[in-house]
Amino acid sequence: MREASRMDKARAKQLAEFFRTLADTSAAPWNASANFTPREPDLHASLAELYDDRLRPLKPGPSYKVELERRIRSPLVTTYLETGVNTGESLRLCSDLELAIGVDPAPKLPPEGFDRPPFRVERKPSDAFFQELFGEGPSDFALDLAFIDGLHVFEFALRDFIGVEALAAHGCTVLVHDVLPRRAAEAARHRFTRSWTGDVWRLPMVLRQFRPDLRVELVAAAPTGLAVITGLDAANTLLIERYDEVVAYGLRLSVMAFLAERDAHVSLV
Ligand SMILES: C[S@@+](CC[C@H](N)C(=O)[O-])C[C@H]1O[C@@H](n2cnc3c(N)ncnc32)[C@H](O)[C@@H]1O
Repeated sequence: MREASRMDKARAKQLAEFFRTLADTSAAPWNASANFTPREPDLHASLAELYDDRLRPLKPGPSYKVELERRIRSPLVTTYLETGVNTGESLRLCSDLELAIGVDPAPKLPPEGFDRPPFRVERKPSDAFFQELFGEGPSDFALDLAFIDGLHVFEFALRDFIGVEALAAHGCTVLVHDVLPRRAAEAARHRFTRSWTGDVWRLPMVLRQFRPDLRVELVAAAPTGLAVITGLDAANTLLIERYDEVVAYGLRLSVMAFLAERDAHVSLV
């Protein structure tokens, strides 16, 4: 396992306090896990007519699971964390790693297989996980790879990024799922469509604005894209110190403007 990042006690305390404060008030803004609406095709037709919310498919690319698996199989990756585990389809790819942490308040995992090392399943929202982890002091592991796929609301994905970056080993990569929505309805903060990216697309945009030291690539992985973030700095505190400003900036971005220029943000790799 890679050496744990050299986090000191003061930094762990700062992180625990950040997650404690926000976890207290961080209920999803609307019902972010509601079910899709009945007669969804009719809804899409009226949204297209009213708001020009037409489907903009991504250029065909490999599935996000192929992109994820390729990185999990890298010999440099021994330690992994995923927020949003669901049925464990992506977490199960990590059976050969040394440590694979999955965080989800309501995972739908099979009864066996994830109850032993390398798996460690934390049945709680990611804010509570990070609060408790950092509340215990500096962490004794560092991450080579993380996959953010929990609650698909921008601020939650941002805090997941803050938590995993603080745990990053040198050379760590963070993947963020669902950053290339195909229509505005799919990217709503309140879920009413079957396929739902939420507004996680804002996260790479704010990182490019506030953290130009990071490398933030968008990959057209099917069906709704992946962000690949490298150049992490576990000691960087900017996103915590300027959290309100970062969130306000992200929420001011327009989904229609993003969709209109979406493909220009996608890298060729
Ligand atoms: C899209 S699914 C994850 C799919 C999985 N990563 C895969 O690729 O197979 C999203 C999951 O996020 C979980 N979730 C919802 N709110 C969460 C939170 N606050 N923290 C972590 N996970 C959360 C849900 O319970 C759900 O299982």
